[in-house]
Amino acid sequence: MQSKLFIANWKMQKTFAESIDFCSSNLSALKKLSAQTDTEIVLCPSFPVIYSLNEQLADTMVHVGAQNCSPYISGAYTGQVSAQSLKEIGCNYCIVGHSEQRKYENVTDKDVAMAAKNLCDQEIEPIICIGETEEQFQKNEAINALESQLDFVLSALKNTKQPITIAYEPVWAIGTGVVPESAYLKKIFQHLSAIFSNVHSGPWRLIYGGSVSEKTMSSFKDIPSLAGFLVGSASLDFPKFEKIVLLGK
Ligand code: 13P
Repeated sequence: MQSKLFIANWKMQKTFAESIDFCSSNLSALKKLSAQTDTEIVLCPSFPVIYSLNEQLADTMVHVGAQNCSPYISGAYTGQVSAQSLKEIGCNYCIVGHSEQRKYENVTDKDVAMAAKNLCDQEIEPIICIGETEEQFQKNEAINALESQLDFVLSALKNTKQPITIAYEPVWAIGTGVVPESAYLKKIFQHLSAIFSNVHSGPWRLIYGGSVSEKTMSSFKDIPSLAGFLVGSASLDFPKFEKIVLLGK
């Protein structure tokens, strides 16, 4: 049985001290939760926390991931962080193309594809976020939007044998408490699965993000190919995150 992936995206919601405190206060529970063979747990704090968190969690099976990576390998790119640096500080996963990066930092589909390729070259699993906007959803243009976000990614990664994860995060579901209807999710996941089965040669999995909470977990039953969750605000509180893992595994 394939394990389910639960990724906590802490965004810029926890300081260094708060992130360390989250893990020290819940260390034994995190150890127990991550020891289960049917779950894979990844915490994605802000960049400055990654190294320390990895040391703190060394005795657990919890992985530490980053929230972004530069599309460039190295050079004069003030403020950016390379895939190689992430590897050196013990990152095994990295979110790329989150809609907040696309919106506030003007990250393009091409940047996302280049960053994902750099991560694969460093044997870091990219968590590639895609999702339609509210307007695209209303106009029934989700599939076109997702396909166009994936164009560069599919060609940049066509020869990689590294595992990749695609996180479907409809922009209109992020932070709103609203999740897509089951029939809609099934249609999207079927479509994405067909694309990756036909086109991508390496291992891949599909996860969902957007208002995942202990209250919405029942909406995600029986979605084919759903291999896990990317959790925002509900991952900031350990008991809520733990509940999500127990309900979703
Ligand atoms: P919420 O779970 O707060 O809606 O955030 C989702 C998200 O953006 C995860 O990457």
